[in-house]
Amino acid sequence: MGELTELVNHHNHLYYQLHQSVISDFEFDGLLKELTDLESAFPALRLPDSPTQRVGGTVTREFETVTHRYPMLSLGNTYSETDLTEFDNRVAKGLEGAPYAYCCELKFDGVSISLIYEKGVLTRAVTRGDGVRGDDVTNNVRTIHRIPLRVKGAGIPDYFEVRGEIFLSKKMFSQLNKEREDIGEETYANARNTASGTLKMQDSALVAARKLDCYVYYLLGEDLPEDNHIGRIRLLEKWGFNVSPTYRSCSNIREVLAYIAEWDKSRHDLPLETDGVVIKVNAIQQQEQLGFTAKSPRWAIAYKYKAASVSTRLNGITYQVGRTGAITPVAELEPVFLAGTTVKRASLHNANEIERLGLCIGDHVFVEKGGEIIPKVTGVDMDKRQPGAKAVTYISSCPECGESLIRVEGEASHYCPNDQGCAPQIKGKIEHFIQRKAMDINSLGERTIATLYERGLVRTPADLYDLREEDILGLEGFKEQSTRNLLDGIRASIQIPFESVLFAIGIRYVGKTVAEKLARHFRSMDQLMAANREALLAAPEVGEKIADSVLAYFANEANRTEVERLKKAGLAMEVSGKEPEKLSDVLAGKTFVVSGVFAKYEREQLKELIVSHGGKVLSGVSGKLDYLLAGDNMGPAKLEKAEKLGVKIIGEAEFDQLIGGR
Ligand code: IVH
Repeated sequence: MGELTELVNHHNHLYYQLHQSVISDFEFDGLLKELTDLESAFPALRLPDSPTQRVGGTVTREFETVTHRYPMLSLGNTYSETDLTEFDNRVAKGLEGAPYAYCCELKFDGVSISLIYEKGVLTRAVTRGDGVRGDDVTNNVRTIHRIPLRVKGAGIPDYFEVRGEIFLSKKMFSQLNKEREDIGEETYANARNTASGTLKMQDSALVAARKLDCYVYYLLGEDLPEDNHIGRIRLLEKWGFNVSPTYRSCSNIREVLAYIAEWDKSRHDLPLETDGVVIKVNAIQQQEQLGFTAKSPRWAIAYKYKAASVSTRLNGITYQVGRTGAITPVAELEPVFLAGTTVKRASLHNANEIERLGLCIGDHVFVEKGGEIIPKVTGVDMDKRQPGAKAVTYISSCPECGESLIRVEGEASHYCPNDQGCAPQIKGKIEHFIQRKAMDINSLGERTIATLYERGLVRTPADLYDLREEDILGLEGFKEQSTRNLLDGIRASIQIPFESVLFAIGIRYVGKTVAEKLARHFRSMDQLMAANREALLAAPEVGEKIADSVLAYFANEANRTEVERLKKAGLAMEVSGKEPEKLSDVLAGKTFVVSGVFAKYEREQLKELIVSHGGKVLSGVSGKLDYLLAGDNMGPAKLEKAEKLGVKIIGEAEFDQLIGGR
């Protein structure tokens, strides 16, 4: 186990810190699996900083409230240089004329976290909460690769705390939103709230998939090495923490102001959102001398950049239709120059947002560019409103195909239901189908899809496989070689495995991960199509929303025909490889419902074990059910029903006995 741990740590380091892959993902997963298996067989030998925790899989029902040893204070805020000069005067006065210096850092817009290390091992990660008490989110934080699980080296203090900011990089955030849009989920409004929501997710495996990051900026403890802030920051870097390289030593307030001016623009090129600069007195002894007010340190202050904002005329609203039929309203603005670029358009998200802003066409609106790249409309300049201006009425039919729009209870977006006949939906479906994560047909692009659609050559993904040379040759930009490349690319895609095909056909809410789970569970398209609601709900990670969406997809005749045509074209319709490992037949003929949270196993693990031992997993309690495998915190209704129907209720210890320690 020690050897495996070292090996996995080594490859993690190469991959996440040095961006090198020395072994394949497959080999890496093999090593990790071997270690995980050993850990479940010998739980006492599991190391507190084992790399298996990076992948998550623990489920937290309720985050424990923890009192901070050192309260997490906030900083005084200012927007003006005069305030900063006054801050500097207060510092000078407090230090009674002694020389001092500052450290300037950017103010990262994420979620603050306190990381506690005991004997070099990360033992706890706590959110800020109200500053005095926060939530223990350790299991989720352990999935963040840029946070060391253990700090090694000479002179590591027995106890220390590291404060920092957990964030979702702009890149990860837009990637996440693209993925969500692609499967018809509503997109998130900003990276900060998404990071904060992610940190509070109950299933740490989902947290791991989000790829959060963390910058640290504060080391706390007793008798720490280094007598100044910058020295400690360098120490944190040396210990393997992720420190933004943007900090700088400034010998006076003039240099501080220069730092602020310098980063005003270039901060937008950083990987995460920043909303200001934090100015800290560098010497720790001087920090102690200045001390704290009730709420914040006297030795530090935050300067906040004003979000760039202008007022311009709202000329109109246009409406975009996405692949899933979701409508996005867009503000068409009188072009205006704002923070380095000309802004002509801004997303208005949905009808609620238009109503909230109370927009009238012809209004002058305030447009702001905060951290996000896409500008937003923040309000109406009421002084300039024309008398008799009429509030915007949202469209009721699709701007592309004329179909009446629908709005599902509880959802903010309007939808065009004409998925088989609305141009952007058709083209969008084909774009989804060919993308890298799906059928990976890179000989096709948006332009070509548009041409093929306009010529009436392609209406659904299956039409791609019927294309012949004479259809393509002569299309704009296509000669013999490029035609051959295009067709070869399409033909080659029949090698793509079943799980990618399942993702490619574009069932709403079925992203790549869910497609993989469904493929593994049902093994073939036929079995998935035959599954009823109960069978779908019994599959890992499938809730009601996904189950209903799969049912609706296959209930549609046109979709069934499409799948049939794809099958004829030769696409993979079942998983290759062997059935899940068969361990025994001791549970043959027995049915189980698994509910609640367990100590030794994850719920999905239990479901897999049941199947490997010949049993069946159901989703609902009924008279036919043999066992309810009950963990903590399961719904009382389910328990009551099982008792009433005389279903045997067992815990994980009894389950272990059933499978006889196999
Ligand atoms: S130092 C006692 N440095 O801003 C001072 N804070 O309002 C501890 N923040 O809660 C904070 N970037 O979440 C510090 N470079 C930075 C920061 C930073 C962002 C956040 C932090 C804190 C809030 C203060």
